[in-house]
Amino acid sequence: MSTTKTINLKNRPKGKPELSDFDFTTSEVPELKDGEILLKTTYVSVDPYLRGRMSDAESYIEPFELNEPIVSGCVAEVLESKSSNFSSGDFVTGMLEWKEKQVVNAENFRKVDPDQAPLSAYLGILGMTGLTAYFGLTDIGKPKEGETLLVSGAAGAVGTVVGQIGKILGMHVVGIAGTDEKIEMIKSEFGYDEGINYKTTENMAQAIAKACPDGVDVYYDNVGGEISEAVLFNINKFSRTVVCGAISVYNNTELPKSTSVQPFLIKKSSSMQGFVIFDYKDRHPEGIEQLADWLQKGKLHYEETIQEGFDNIPQAFLDLFEGKNKGKMLVKI
Ligand SMILES: NC(=O)c1ccc[n+]([C@@H]2O[C@H](COP(=O)([O-])OP(=O)(O)OC[C@H]3O[C@@H](n4cnc5c(N)ncnc54)[C@H](OP(=O)(O)O)[C@@H]3O)[C@@H](O)[C@H]2O)c1
Repeated sequence: MSTTKTINLKNRPKGKPELSDFDFTTSEVPELKDGEILLKTTYVSVDPYLRGRMSDAESYIEPFELNEPIVSGCVAEVLESKSSNFSSGDFVTGMLEWKEKQVVNAENFRKVDPDQAPLSAYLGILGMTGLTAYFGLTDIGKPKEGETLLVSGAAGAVGTVVGQIGKILGMHVVGIAGTDEKIEMIKSEFGYDEGINYKTTENMAQAIAKACPDGVDVYYDNVGGEISEAVLFNINKFSRTVVCGAISVYNNTELPKSTSVQPFLIKKSSSMQGFVIFDYKDRHPEGIEQLADWLQKGKLHYEETIQEGFDNIPQAFLDLFEGKNKGKMLVKI
């Protein structure tokens, strides 16, 4: 019988997560039963939302249990199969425990084709973050040609895709990110018209006004906090804010003192709507089809930051909070 390493949640992080919040154990891989497949993990997606599952506060998804494996989106190779749907050598995607190898019920996995797209793409542009960008912008942002789209977290997995979709739809697109290199990247590789480095800008409200001379019609918010407060001073009449993520406050230990959004929304008849990508579960195939079509036609590009090695998964996760990724952060095993 073979063994596998597993990464468990050791402590519920207080503030910023640390390596000591995770631990590694080794266990035996069980024998396969009918309907099961034995998987070897190939790529692991690390995502900001996992921070929420490490806390036991009530949320839209169950918290991780202490001393149990972390789970995230992964691509894996089928080593053995007792399912008629899969053969050894196939690649699948789905939610997997952070293990090198594991036996799972085949029903919960979808085959992916390495000849259609690189395997890593099924965790980014053709996976959860691509779909989040697509449905958040098109369904909640209700974008119109000629409008101004402002995106925070613009150089990340979701943000790079949102900006490109905005350009496909004929918008003026402005991005906010944390380094000059990222600003250069979103403009030269992803078609953003303007960019603002929030770490070197003293007055964000003024900088947004300058980059968005006609005001902001759609704000795609990946970060929340002070950046999003500055956006409020620039929203247009009937503007829409897509509340996708709030990474700037995920590690807060106290409720922040924040600006009241209501007067801004009232004055501008503006709306703000949160969402989780699971809300669109039934429409995922439609989203994948559109994203794959744009990819194939060369209208969409994607960037990845790929770290290597099973033992480096926790560090790759921590690096998201330091902005060390461009595009989708993944770990190749
Ligand atoms: N609603 C949903 O269903 C859904 C689905 C997927 C993702 N999300 C959310 O969408 C957001 C983006 O997710 P992603 O997977 O695409 O991650 P990502 O943007 O690829 O990675 C996180 C990025 O956040 C930025 N960041 C970190 N700390 C920050 C801070 N204090 N203030 C401002 N920016 C900070 C960093 O870039 P900089 O260098 O620019 O700081 C970092 O690279 C996250 O908030 C995530 O939780 C929501």
